Amino acid sequence: MTDVRPHSANDDGVLHTLFRSEQGGHEQVVLCQDRDSGLRAVIAVHSTALGPALGGTRFHAYASDADAVSDALNLSRGMSYKNALAGLEHGGGKAVIIGDPDKLKSEALLEAYGRFVASLGGRYVTACDVGTYVQDMDVVARTNQWTTGRSPENGGAGDSSVLTSFGVFQGMRASAQHLWGEPTLRGRRVGVAGVGKVGHHLVGHLVEDGAEVVVTDVREESVERVRAAHPSITVVADTATLIHTEGLDVYAPCALGGALNDATVPALTAKIVCGAANNQLAHPGVEKDLAQRGILYAPDYVVNAGGVIQVADELHGFDFARAKAKATGILDTTLAIFERAARDDVPPAVAADRIAEQRMAEAR
Ligand SMILES: NC(=O)c1ccc[n+]([C@@H]2O[C@H](COP(=O)([O-])OP(=O)(O)OC[C@H]3O[C@@H](n4cnc5c(N)ncnc54)[C@H](O)[C@@H]3O)[C@@H](O)[C@H]2O)c1
Repeated sequence: MTDVRPHSANDDGVLHTLFRSEQGGHEQVVLCQDRDSGLRAVIAVHSTALGPALGGTRFHAYASDADAVSDALNLSRGMSYKNALAGLEHGGGKAVIIGDPDKLKSEALLEAYGRFVASLGGRYVTACDVGTYVQDMDVVARTNQWTTGRSPENGGAGDSSVLTSFGVFQGMRASAQHLWGEPTLRGRRVGVAGVGKVGHHLVGHLVEDGAEVVVTDVREESVERVRAAHPSITVVADTATLIHTEGLDVYAPCALGGALNDATVPALTAKIVCGAANNQLAHPGVEKDLAQRGILYAPDYVVNAGGVIQVADELHGFDFARAKAKATGILDTTLAIFERAARDDVPPAVAADRIAEQRMAEAR
């Protein structure tokens, strides 16, 4: 998926993107304002072809309002693809709240935001994203019935990193199956960059499966927590050292976006890249560079869908076993993507987009 480029506030770039470009095609974009609480938000519904649009709320201090709209357009489009490949009866949507959450976030603002979600009458279902947390969704849920990512006390599923890491692990098993013939990481050396919420749980799955795990993180407390839980792991200083680890079989980016770029891809020794981080490909074309180097890339938005599978389940009264069973399907989905990629002679990222587009087109 091509990114929607940010535009300056004084051109019609965002509107051009929306109405006239390949990256547009959104069904509905709503600008929201509540002067009393200071809320300014954008809710973007990319597609409801498969069902109500589902995607989180990002709370961020954007450089410009146009950047905020671009981000909402881009992220909501990404959710359509992610939800389609996760096998959910949901289209793609995303919201952004404009401003510094540390300065602006209040119960009044979140309740006002919830009223805007309500105004869409169920066309958009919200959840957490960068800058919003489970306790925020509990407040947003006071003013509408289309809020997921709530706490268990409020009928929610709580921390989504449990099933996100489980899904990434399924994607990694599929990658191992495709490349080495068996769905296991036993005896393989796996490097996890970023051992926060998702990376920490992922290390647990890998150790249990018999992998040899190497980790790195910029936060000492994340490293100490995972080392205490799994004393057998190796810790290295930084991501550059991690990707150069001798005999590394798998690289799992689990920190920030852009991990696969013009500097890291030529340096990679791992044969598989499969991790939780969103937007791992720094720019269009990186997926081809990976394929040319013979590196199998499990598309990020496919393997990290465990979290959205979890929140979607909340709408039916959360059932962990049911959500986990659905997240297990990430293994078969990832395998199907690799097969399609081989058949169409395209990188897996392109094959994933094609399968998602097909599912949406069929639903229409
Ligand atoms: N939490 C979810 O359910 C979920 C779902 C889908 C995708 N993701 C994505 O997965 C990634 C991880 O999410 P998370 O919830 O674990 O976040 P987190 O903030 O809990 O963990 C990220 C970790 O990465 C570390 N980190 C940051 N920069 C680093 C660097 N340069 N090198 C090494 N480590 C670095 C941080 O210190 C932190 O420990 C993010 O990209 C997120 O968007 C998360």
